[in-house]
Amino acid sequence: MAESIFDMAPVTEPERQYYFIENARVLLGRKEEELHHPLSFHVTTFGCQMNARDSEKMTGILADMGLMESENETESDIVLFNTCTIRDNANQKFYGHLGTLGGKNQRNRDRIVAVCGCMAQEPECVEKLSKSYKFVNIIFGTHNIYKLAELICRHLEGEEHVVDVWDKPGEIVEDIPSIRKYPFKSGVNIMFGCNNYCTYCIVPYVRGNERSREAKEIIRECEKLASDGVKEVMLLGQNVNSYGNGIEGSISFPELLREVEKVDGIERIRFMTSHPKDLSDELIQVMKDSKKICRHIHLPLQSGSTRILKAMNRRYTREQYLELAMKIRREIPDIAITTDIIVGFPGETTEDVDDTVDMIHRVKYDGAFTFVYSPRTGTPAASMDGRQPKEWIKREFDRVLTAVQDESKEMAARFLGNTETVLVEDINEQDPGLVTGRMSNNLMVHFPGDRSLIGKLVDVKLTECKGFYYMGER
Ligand code: SAH
Ligand code: SF4
Ligand code: F3S
Repeated sequence: MAESIFDMAPVTEPERQYYFIENARVLLGRKEEELHHPLSFHVTTFGCQMNARDSEKMTGILADMGLMESENETESDIVLFNTCTIRDNANQKFYGHLGTLGGKNQRNRDRIVAVCGCMAQEPECVEKLSKSYKFVNIIFGTHNIYKLAELICRHLEGEEHVVDVWDKPGEIVEDIPSIRKYPFKSGVNIMFGCNNYCTYCIVPYVRGNERSREAKEIIRECEKLASDGVKEVMLLGQNVNSYGNGIEGSISFPELLREVEKVDGIERIRFMTSHPKDLSDELIQVMKDSKKICRHIHLPLQSGSTRILKAMNRRYTREQYLELAMKIRREIPDIAITTDIIVGFPGETTEDVDDTVDMIHRVKYDGAFTFVYSPRTGTPAASMDGRQPKEWIKREFDRVLTAVQDESKEMAARFLGNTETVLVEDINEQDPGLVTGRMSNNLMVHFPGDRSLIGKLVDVKLTECKGFYYMGER
C-alpha cells in the first residue's frame, strides 16, 4: 500500500502541525486547479475573548495553508464556526445560523464546514450535529484547535466526517501561527480552563481544568507582539488571580504583571477575568504603581445576596465583595469597575434581588453585563429547585438593568472636561469624519480624526458625555 501523508508525519508538536499545513497547502492547491478559483475561508466566532483568541490562531493556520480570508461566509470554501455554550441562547443562535448556511450549502458541494469550540465539547451537541447537520464535515473541541490543519488533511484525504473531541486537555502547544484581528492590540492567553465550578457554569466542563502557561512563554509572546507593533495586550484567563497555581516555582499574577510592564513597546495592559475570591492586596498595589495597567477591573459579582452566592459556589460573601470593591475604589479612585450579574438563579427571591440592586448602588458600577440564568446540562444548578416564572425574571431583570444604567451613566459623567489618553481603534461607523477609541478605563470616545490615527495613543479632551460614551477633541 502506498505510504500516506499520515505515516510520515512528525510526532512532536508544533512540528507535526507545520508538516500538515504544508500538506494541506499541496492538497488544496490541487483542488484549486480543479475548481479554477482561488480558495477562501471564513471564520465565525461566538462567545468570549478566549474564543476570539483561538479564532486568531485558527485564522493564522488557514492563511498559512494558502487560503484567502473572505468576508463572505456563503461563498467561502472552508467555513469554520467557533462556538460558545455559556447560555442556551448562544447555542440557539448558532443552530439558527448553521441552518441558514445548510440551506445555501447545497449550491456549494465542495465546501468544507467545520465546527469547533465549547459546544463541540458537549456530547449532545456532537450527536445533534452528526444527525441533523450532515453537511458539517469536521467537528473538534477546545483542546485541539492547534490541530486544524491535520483535521483538514484527514478530510481532504477521504474521511467524509472527521470528529476529534478530547474530553481532557492535552499539552499546551506554543508557537502556532496566528493572525490578529487588530494590528495594535492582542489577547494573550496566560491560562486555560477553570477549576472553580461555580454551580451554574459550564466552562470547567468544556474548557477543562485550570492550566497556566510558563511566564517566560507569556513574556516572549508579549515581546514578539510589541515588535509587531502591538501597543495593548489583554491577558486572558477565566480567573487570572490564580495564575501560576500548580506550576512549581511559578510567579504570581501581580508578579507576572510587573514582568509584562517591562516589555518595551507595550503601552497598555488589560486583563480578564478577576475572580473576587482571589484578588490580592498585591494586585491592587501593582495596579496602583503601574503606568501601563489600564484603569479598569472586571469583577463579576453574579449576585448581591450571600445566600445565593453560597448556592452558586462563588466563595465570597456580600460583605467581602463590598469591602474589596471599596478598597479598590479607595486606592485607585479613577478606576472603572465593571461586573457580571445573573438574574433568576434557582431559589432566588425578590429579597435576593433587592440585595443585588443595593450592591449596585453601593459599588456604583461603571458598567455591567446582566444575564438571565440559563440551566446548563451537567452543572449542579441545573437540578436545583426554585426556578422562578418567566414574568418574575423579566421584571427583576429590568429592575437590575435600570439600577446598573442609572449608576453607570452617573459614573461615566465624572470624567467630563478631563484630557485622557485614547487608543484609536477605528473610523466611526456613523460619521467617517470621526475616529473611535478607548480610554484607559475602557470608555469609548469619538472625536474628529482620520485613518492615520488608528493604532495610535493620542490625548483627547472630553467635551461632551453621551451617557455611556464621550465626544471629544484633540
Ligand atoms: N470566569 C469568569 C466568567 C466567565 S463566563 C468569572 O468567573 O468571572 C461570563 C459570565 O457569564 C459569567 O460571569 C456569568 O455572569 C455568566 N454566566 C455563566 N454561566 C451562566 C449561566 N448558566 N446562565 C447565565 N449566565 C451565565
Ligand atoms: Fe465559570 Fe466560575 Fe470558572 Fe468563571 S470562575 S469560568 S463563572 S466556573
Ligand atoms: Fe462561551 Fe466557551 Fe467562552 S462557553 S463564554 S466561548 S469559554
